[in-house]
Amino acid sequence: MRLLTAAVTSIALALGAQMACAAPIELKFAHVVAENTPKGQMALKFRDLVAERLGDKVEVKVFPNSQLFGDNKVLEAMLLGDVQMAAPSLSKFQKYTKSLQIFDLPFLFEDMTAVDRFQQSAQGQELLNSLRKRGLVGLGYLHNGMKQLSANDPLRVPADAAGKKFRIMTSDVLQSQFEALDAVPLKKPFSEVFTLLQTKAIDGAENPWSNIYSKKFHEVQPYITETNHGVLDYLVVTSAEFWNGLDEDVRAELKKALDESIAYGNTISGEQAAKDRQAIIDSGRSEVIEITAEERQQWVDAMKPVWKEFEGEIGAELIDAALQANH
Ligand code: LMR
Repeated sequence: MRLLTAAVTSIALALGAQMACAAPIELKFAHVVAENTPKGQMALKFRDLVAERLGDKVEVKVFPNSQLFGDNKVLEAMLLGDVQMAAPSLSKFQKYTKSLQIFDLPFLFEDMTAVDRFQQSAQGQELLNSLRKRGLVGLGYLHNGMKQLSANDPLRVPADAAGKKFRIMTSDVLQSQFEALDAVPLKKPFSEVFTLLQTKAIDGAENPWSNIYSKKFHEVQPYITETNHGVLDYLVVTSAEFWNGLDEDVRAELKKALDESIAYGNTISGEQAAKDRQAIIDSGRSEVIEITAEERQQWVDAMKPVWKEFEGEIGAELIDAALQANH
């Protein structure tokens, strides 16, 4: 009996020691922007909240500035288990789902309030599930902001963009948007944009204020036209395999920390855009061109035919639902 008790005690002790020493699960969060952006700040907030609340169970490691993967590789890497979380722009999912292309339709949303309203609507929330079949889980939307057009020459009306080369993300909608201007779109990774602009291999690009400022694109683009023609927002994603493999309580705590971090990122995104826009103006490196209502209407007229082209893939009802968010 005494022998048995001793054996049970030592097994229990060994198990206890093993559990106490179990290394925390490593959660790699890869993204492509700088840390002083809404996404950069959101990722750091998430890392810190997890350290505070789940420090012995999960360790979040953040890799900014395309250090680990560019957006074109990150989803494949996620499915292979090489990275556990990312927040690619909504424009970068077309290989996995066509529905998210809705966010690229030019002049669909009047402002970020409308974008937010649509994302939080039943239809917007349903889109988070559009990647399930491909083994990915959409965990929430994160804002950056509205996109502006920058170039080597001033762009006031669509005709000014004709014949010019613009860098775009890997999105067929964005390709059509620039083709509608008789411009030449080139799909290139974010990490290459600065050099492409600096060397004048391309003439221009479309970016939100925080990406322009944090990556110094305004130092190599003398003109930025404030078009607000489209949105650049993100989907925070993980793989179903990683997410479903977590203990239920850990998963719930992670989701709570993530929701809080996303809410934080979304709150600062508006202020960040305004601050970075002003910093660009103050730098004197680039002229911010404000267009008139008439000039803006010319951009709308030139770009809006793109909607019809993608209506079949996206769904007319979904486009209607997004339009409702403008009111
Ligand atoms: C881009 O490639 O322009 C953006 O998706 C970068 C980002 O993550 O904001």
